[in-house]
Amino acid sequence: MPKEKGTVLVTGGNRGIGFEVCRQLARAGSRVLLTARDSTLGQQAAATLRSEGLDVAFEPLDVASQESIDALGSALERKGQRLSALVNNAAITMDGFDARVAEQTQAINFFGAWHVTERLAPLLEPHGRLVMVSSGAGELAGLARELRQRFDPPPSKEVLAALVREFIEDVRSGQYARKGWPRSAYRISKVALNALTRRLAEELQERHVLVNAVCPGWVRTRMGGSSAPLGAEEGADTIVWAAMLPPEGPTGRFFRDRRPIDW
Ligand SMILES: NC(=O)c1ccc[n+]([C@@H]2O[C@H](COP(=O)([O-])OP(=O)(O)OC[C@H]3O[C@@H](n4cnc5c(N)ncnc54)[C@H](OP(=O)(O)O)[C@@H]3O)[C@@H](O)[C@H]2O)c1
Repeated sequence: MPKEKGTVLVTGGNRGIGFEVCRQLARAGSRVLLTARDSTLGQQAAATLRSEGLDVAFEPLDVASQESIDALGSALERKGQRLSALVNNAAITMDGFDARVAEQTQAINFFGAWHVTERLAPLLEPHGRLVMVSSGAGELAGLARELRQRFDPPPSKEVLAALVREFIEDVRSGQYARKGWPRSAYRISKVALNALTRRLAEELQERHVLVNAVCPGWVRTRMGGSSAPLGAEEGADTIVWAAMLPPEGPTGRFFRDRRPIDW
């Protein structure tokens, strides 16, 4: 019997905010598919949550690998698995700033979330929810005006992908500052993820899927560091809320502390 609250899939669930999102969703009554790129770490994380009496299963998923995404999609289809929500949480920050950093950051934070969504969105139930874990770093306000206009209003997904590739090439050629790009691959990945969220919200509206981005705040994780004011529990809160919105809930919005913020 499917659970009333359905099954939620979370990327990057082995540690940090993603792990806590899995815990809170399972405590709230969802069945959780905790995914991770490292099977040992993912299995351990899922076992920890099961030892707390929670309904959590592990599935391998490297969001930067189309092969891995397709394998998971096919495995879920074979089982007839439907999803009540998909939480795109996995992301990286890297030290330094060069073409390799730009490319790898986009491959996971932007293209990864996009490709996972393209493959798994058909499994979302009507009135399902899609949550993009973003960041205040992705807000448009801090961007130079001309660059901001290229992301707002959000262009088509194809144009968006070309923009992100242009960023990587401009970093490679050393032209990025002249072209107005900030010196942060992470920031551009989240600006692009936010624009993608807005496009997907429109696209999935006919299936009544609620699509929102969430900034978890500054959270004590390996990414956030030890000085961050929020614990993972607090960081997970708005993500979990967005993954359990009622059918008449908001879509195409950006939230922090369960409140809408500007793109
Ligand atoms: N912490 C903050 O202050 C903060 C602030 C704003 C936004 N965020 C956002 O919140 C989300 C979670 O961040 P966090 O602080 O929990 O980071 P974290 O502790 O560094 O955890 C990142 C997670 O993403 C996974 N991951 C990285 N690359 C992956 C890939 N290719 N495939 C699958 N999983 C992958 C990691 O797996 P491994 O263990 O295998 O590396 C890990 O599980 C991210 O989207 C981040 O941008 C965080």
